[in-house]
Amino acid sequence: MFSTCNSPIIMIMNAYLTVDLQNPVAKIDSRLYGSFIEHLGRAVYGGVYEPSHETADDMGFRGDVIDMVKQLHVPIVRYPGGNFVSGYNWEDGTGDRSKRPRRMELAWQSIETNEVGIDEFQEWAKRADTEVMMAVNLGTRGSAEACNLVEYCNSETDSYYANLRRKNGFETPFGIKVWCLGNEMDGEWQIGHKTAYEYGRAACEAAKLMKWVDPTIELVACGSSSIYMATFGEWERTVLRECYDYVDYISLHSYYGNPSNDTPAFFASAVDMDRFIKQVAAICDEIKAEKHSDKTVNLSFDEWNIWFHSNAQDQKIKKWQVAPPLLEDIYNFEDAVVVGDLLITLLNNSDRVRIACLAQLVNVIAPIMTETGGRIWAQTIFYPFMYTSVYGRGTALRSFCECETYNAGSGKEHVPYIDTAAVLSDDETTVTVFAVNRSLGTSCTLALSVLGYTPVGQIALEGDDLKAVNTADEPNRVIPTEKPVTGDIALSPHSWNMIVYKKG
Ligand code: AHR
Repeated sequence: MFSTCNSPIIMIMNAYLTVDLQNPVAKIDSRLYGSFIEHLGRAVYGGVYEPSHETADDMGFRGDVIDMVKQLHVPIVRYPGGNFVSGYNWEDGTGDRSKRPRRMELAWQSIETNEVGIDEFQEWAKRADTEVMMAVNLGTRGSAEACNLVEYCNSETDSYYANLRRKNGFETPFGIKVWCLGNEMDGEWQIGHKTAYEYGRAACEAAKLMKWVDPTIELVACGSSSIYMATFGEWERTVLRECYDYVDYISLHSYYGNPSNDTPAFFASAVDMDRFIKQVAAICDEIKAEKHSDKTVNLSFDEWNIWFHSNAQDQKIKKWQVAPPLLEDIYNFEDAVVVGDLLITLLNNSDRVRIACLAQLVNVIAPIMTETGGRIWAQTIFYPFMYTSVYGRGTALRSFCECETYNAGSGKEHVPYIDTAAVLSDDETTVTVFAVNRSLGTSCTLALSVLGYTPVGQIALEGDDLKAVNTADEPNRVIPTEKPVTGDIALSPHSWNMIVYKKG
């Protein structure tokens, strides 16, 4: 038996992992590895789009950014916001670029030039081997504009908006499958913030018309902006009561951070994420039962990441600039361990979380950083995301880890030092185990056997300096290393690991 220690500093640790090949969690939806690009800061302008950059293509998209996005194998990218979408006129970003309006963008108090809009972004997505997940404005606009946008993007009819798309040079519909019904409408900061009932009604009517225009689309209703919202729970219940029959997913958003430099507590962030997911899934099922419905509403965790490093810096940024350097968190090694652990949690809940979006993708709280007019580099968090996205496809297996626990405070008195997820590849030749060692003090010897499979290799993100970062000058300070495996697996203190097993 294992004891619960109050101190995260321990001398010796053994852990035992069992991987159950018989009772999987779920077939993983590849959209679990989605991401997000908002018209915010330098995500679009100076990020994905920079016509004067030496790698720019014929449409002005940075080739170096596309190459790096491809390495992440992101299947879907949410666009164009975020808070931005709640004041956005989608028509501004279509047609003749010389006639597009330059607007005051209220959400981030910047100037939006509209050089890039849906016409361009859907083309960028194709070039980056990804799909668009489109958000509609339910802040300043409503069901009419939302269903016009569905017609513009997806319709083959001989009708005004489908013909406008043709006139703008796109004969073939864009075929956008997943649509978000607004963004964070529970937040007072949101343009057009609503009560749960007001939003539930608006979402229901927009959803109904959008599905009339294209019955094949999937819709995401706004859930809570975080588990800490005063309205959390009641918001989901009220919204789902109004629009359950029309929506396919409810969203969850959550950002984590270590502003008080309490790393043991920060390393328990995935416990909070797990709790949030389980509570929202329970509410969805409560409403399903209340409605005597056969339909299950699943979860779209369409904003998750670490966000706190840039908060103070952002207060100093001058308003009403084009592409100001907002939300440019520089991620360190401990952030990468936490991101790896959040992905473990998403995998272990992949029966209900079918879509998730790392927020965001380029420059704005992002795994990829660029200098406007210059270099590109991978932040620390790039690596656990890339490896999980590449190897974490197939079927999520249940893994049970016996290990010591620690007290991370506030309702997290028994946090296991070791957190794991396991994935069986579609061809059943490979089982991949993802493991985080949350201990700051010592290495863990992980005894695990996967029946019928042999360990062939381990990738580890480990190091002594929890605050080490990658920069344009030193892009490879925090990168994973390959380790040979023989017998039990060694998990270094505060590390993220991936262990690959092959059949036979
Ligand atoms: O991702 C940054 C912002 O975080 C988004 O615009 C908003 O939805 C959330 O509050």
